Order: sequence, then C-alpha cells, then structure tokens
Amino acid sequence: MNKTTAAITAVGGYVPDFVLSNKVLETMVDTNDEWITTRTGIKERRILKEENAGTSYMAIKAAEDLIKKGNVDPSEIDFVLVATATPDLPVASTAAYVASEIGAVNAFAYDLQAACSSFLYGMSTAASYIESGKYKKVLVIGADKMSSIIDYTDRTTCIIFGDGAGAVLFEPNEEGLGVQDEYLRSDGIGRQFLKIDAGGSILPASEETVKNKQHYVYQDGKSVFKFAVSNMAEVSALIMERNNLTHEDVQWLVPHQANKRIIDATANRMGVDSEKVMINIHRYGNTTSATLPLLLFDYEKQLKKGDNLIFAAFGGGFTWGSIYLKWAYNS
Ligand code: UT7
Repeated sequence: MNKTTAAITAVGGYVPDFVLSNKVLETMVDTNDEWITTRTGIKERRILKEENAGTSYMAIKAAEDLIKKGNVDPSEIDFVLVATATPDLPVASTAAYVASEIGAVNAFAYDLQAACSSFLYGMSTAASYIESGKYKKVLVIGADKMSSIIDYTDRTTCIIFGDGAGAVLFEPNEEGLGVQDEYLRSDGIGRQFLKIDAGGSILPASEETVKNKQHYVYQDGKSVFKFAVSNMAEVSALIMERNNLTHEDVQWLVPHQANKRIIDATANRMGVDSEKVMINIHRYGNTTSATLPLLLFDYEKQLKKGDNLIFAAFGGGFTWGSIYLKWAYNS
C-alpha cells in the first residue's frame, strides 16, 4: 500500500479593498516611492478598514472563497488551523470563531503563532495530522491584520506591512503528491530584533505602555535582514540537496514576501530563475502569515499536477524553514 501524503486540494484568498500606495505613504511619513521600491519591492498594500473587524473577518472570507471554489462541505472539515500573529482577541481562539462562522461544525480549531513562519509551520502540522491517518480534511488559514499593530508615524515599519488572508485545504493523497519534506528551525536570539514590547505577560498594558507606543511592532530591520537572507537561502538550498533536486526540477519557489531582496537572494542560492519565483509583494507588502497562501491564491491557475514547489519563510522569534511539496491538481 502507498504511503499517505498530505496534498493541497483547494485554495482561497481575500485582501481588503482599501489600497495604501507608496504615494499616499509619502504624505504620512518622511519616505518616498523610490526608496520603498528599491529597498523592499513594495508598491502598495491593502488595509482592512471595516469597523469592528479583526483578523477573523479576512480569515472567514478566504475560507468561504475556498469552500465555494473547491465545492467543499464545511461540516466535513476535521480541523481548522488559523496561523496568525494578530488574533482577534487575546486568549479567545480566533480559529474557533472562524470554524463556527464558516459552518465547520464538526471541527476542532486552534491558532498557531510563529510570526511570519506561522503558515509554514501550520502546513507541517496539517501534513502530520493527515499522514498519521487521524484526520482527512484540514483547513489551514494564514491571516493577519498587521495594520492593527503598526505605528503609521514610524517609517521603518509602516511601509512594509499589509493586511490579508489565504486558505488551503489539505487532504490525504495516495499518488505521492503533497508534502514531501520539511526543515523547520527557530532561534530565540531573534526576540530582541522583531517584537512588540508591551501587551504580553512580561509587560502588560498600562497607561504608560500606551503613552510610550509600546504596543506597536518594533523591528531592527538591518539585523533581521541579515539573518533572513542567510537562513532562508540556506534551508531552501538544503531541502533541495537532500531531495536530490536541481534547479531544473523545481517549478516554483514560494517565498515569504518580506523583502524582494531577501527573495532574490534565496532564488540565487537555489539557482532558480526569476520566472519561477512567485511574487506579489509589490501588491500586498508583507502580510505576515498570509503571504504564502496568497501566493498560491494568485498563482493557482499556473500550477500543474506534479509541479515541485519549495516554500520558504523567515520571521520573528526567530522562526524559519522550508517545505518541499508536489502540487496535486490542475485548475
Ligand atoms: O517578515 C518578517 C521578517 N522581516 C524581514 O525580513 C525584514 C528584514 N528587513 C528589511 O527588509 C530591511 O532591513 C528594511 C526594508 C526594513 C530596511 O531596509 P534597509 O536597506 O535595511 O535600510 P536601513 O534600515 O539600513 O536604513 C537605511 C537608511 C537609513 O538612513 P541613514 O541612517 O542611512 O541616513 C534610514 O533612516 O534609510 C532610512 N530609512 C528610510 N528612508 C526613507 C529607513 N526607513 C525609511 C523609509 N523611507 N521608509
């Protein structure tokens, strides 16, 4: 009997309508389109403006898109994982709310937080559940409302991030398609370089923390950049090597969209041509947990059954890794 693998069988996505362009950012902080474009590759990002709407708003829309397109019966979903760094509320599970709202009435659900690697780690979790035979339909949603934790007077962070959500369904596959291998890493040294200082258990919210703007993302961009470039490239090259893949065997690199220069460095190290690199950073910026599923959402029609995809991500913590997956369907 063939080994059961975990394949992606459906994709959905959602980005808010409101576009925040580099030109508009020029009127908000001391920056310019040329600097942002050459340093990051970003031209615009989407911002969720709906009142009282959090990350779940976008996660639900992405999941509903998947359910409709994939003709999925939500009551058959076993498990809903929401990968996010911006849950709706502290403590209450965003995933539990999302599962109920989309009609996944027989599912259990939880959130997974690993900063920009949340979705990549979520893919690993989903694959393990499927491979073990425990569950048959696992919905993994990557969603982040980064605008809720960004200081729009800080030019070092507000130009980078955007809001969005993407969703994928994992199911068992007996043809050897789906997740083939993974290499996941983390290193707590990263905590000082990319974080929110207050609002957690070390420094709970107070009048003081609000006054000091300690509830916004802080990033030492240069340091994060150095770690991201070397580590994302290294794990991607390693996973190719140990699966005996040359650049010709790889149809697509699916890289976290933090900075076009980090993506280029990863592709170079792998020897993969630029036309094989999925890119949407120019349209959405860095949507944290949503970058990888939104790439699949944008490129789904170009993917062919049997294509070899290398996913790579790097994020706060630090957390990073790479996953090798064979695409399972033609759309
Ligand atoms: O997804 C999670 C992981 N995150 C990442 O992977 C992000 C990694 N880091 C980066 O992508 C880059 O470091 C940034 C895009 C954040 C910054 O690019 P950089 O090339 O590292 O710039 P820098 O921080 O070294 O700043 C260079 C100069 C500085 O001026 P001086 O000191 O050279 O006079 C900054 O003050 O650019 C200045 N600067 C800006 N200028 C115009 C910083 N931000 C801006 C801005 N507009 N928005």
